[in-house]
Amino acid sequence: MLDIVILAAGQGKRMVSALPKVLHPLAGRPLLAHVLDTAAALSPHQRIVVYGHGGEQLPAAFADEAAITWVKQAQQLGTGHAVAQALPTLTLDGQVLVLYGDVPLLNAATLQRLLERAAADRLVLLTAELADPSGYGRIIRDAEGRVLRIVEQRDASPAEQAVKEINTGIMLAPAPRLRDWLSRIKADNAQGEYYLTDCVALAVQDGLAVEALITADPSEILGVNDRRQLAVLERHYQDRQAQTLMDAGVTVLDPQRLVVRGEVRVGQDVTIDVGVILEGQVQLDEGVYIGPYSVIRNSVIGAGSVIESHSVIEGARLATATQVGPFARLRPGTVLEDGAKVGNFVETKNTHIGPGSKANHLSYLGDAELGAAVNVGAGTITCNYDGANKHRTVLEDGVFIGSNTALVAPIHVGREATVGAGSTLSQDVPAQGLTFNRAACKHVSQWRRPRKQR
Ligand code: UD1
Ligand code: CA
Repeated sequence: MLDIVILAAGQGKRMVSALPKVLHPLAGRPLLAHVLDTAAALSPHQRIVVYGHGGEQLPAAFADEAAITWVKQAQQLGTGHAVAQALPTLTLDGQVLVLYGDVPLLNAATLQRLLERAAADRLVLLTAELADPSGYGRIIRDAEGRVLRIVEQRDASPAEQAVKEINTGIMLAPAPRLRDWLSRIKADNAQGEYYLTDCVALAVQDGLAVEALITADPSEILGVNDRRQLAVLERHYQDRQAQTLMDAGVTVLDPQRLVVRGEVRVGQDVTIDVGVILEGQVQLDEGVYIGPYSVIRNSVIGAGSVIESHSVIEGARLATATQVGPFARLRPGTVLEDGAKVGNFVETKNTHIGPGSKANHLSYLGDAELGAAVNVGAGTITCNYDGANKHRTVLEDGVFIGSNTALVAPIHVGREATVGAGSTLSQDVPAQGLTFNRAACKHVSQWRRPRKQR
């Protein structure tokens, strides 16, 4: 049985923030959410979060997430004290994996390697070799390379400080042993804290095997202490996302200028231009092109579609070979059928645009239903809101709406009707034929322009 204890009670003073550190977002989600996901990937019996600083903000932020055991550490007396708070909730003779809420990039595969070494008489550590080990606890080994203990930077001698192998903080221990060690650790160190790391020396004293696995990728164990480190981790995270996409057959024009905050599913030969942000659940089918500085959120973009630059697409479903932008805004509930086209400065909301239909310039289409091969002229507006309620506009197949038309909803325009430019229509339009309303044109030949008075 595996229990995972996630330490997240620390204040994170160096963040200089009212928000608890582990709630700061990485790729749009709290640091702690990433750790909880990694923990869930190991299918543990329990995920226990030790929280304290920031009070109930933490449990509240994860109220939707099932199956988290919250344990409060009222005073932050050290990592050993923190794990001790979780003891009453632990499975009696299982294994306990300790993770940190502010170390979000750990791979589940690395932790799986640790779990493969689990035994009732063994303590397993995850370590890393760093060119600059400062700030971390050092792994002290004997002449034969056996781990003896961990010494914190502040308690280390100059010789110990020269050691490059550091403690990542990730530890796997048998629950009964952990219980015993935590009852024996003392706060007799430079910080006056109960150190979880002191369990290592106690394990050696008890004649247990201590095994240290060195991570192949030191970037995965980086923690967040301040906002600079948060930015560094964000970059690592985004590098990984770009690499995953490229491995799946996506051309990423500049991997440094792509941001993914969510999950992206891709077909082959997708091209993503610079400055693109993908958020939530995004699906880009085969051959899709996303132009520079576009934002795509919770949307499906069908095969062969072209999204030109600076388009913002949210909650939309685009079929194949659609064309969008530049500077288009597709809001939630927008559906584009095959070959539909939404051009520059067009906003759509809760609108279904049939196959081959076009709104190429400067329009607002809200709560509208467009059939096939409809043409919406520049400047056309669906007046969908009467100040209290929203109403629908229906344009049947083959309708042609002249430029600068106001369609006062509810309104229904019949098949193949043509609406003359500049009309304001508040009644249904019959199929075919021409419908328009427009003030008659007057000409005043004797008219003079006003002149400036002296
Ligand atoms: C700890 C390790 C150090 C290791 C480093 C890796 C100890 C004594 N030291 O040092 O060997 O190299 O992590 O990053 O364990 N926390 C609590 N309650 C507390 C204290 C801390 O929940 O009372 C949490 C913090 O929120 C944080 C984690 O435990 O998530 C680590 O605490 P931190 O104070 O950052 O430990 P370090 O001094 O960095
Ligand atoms: Ca730390």
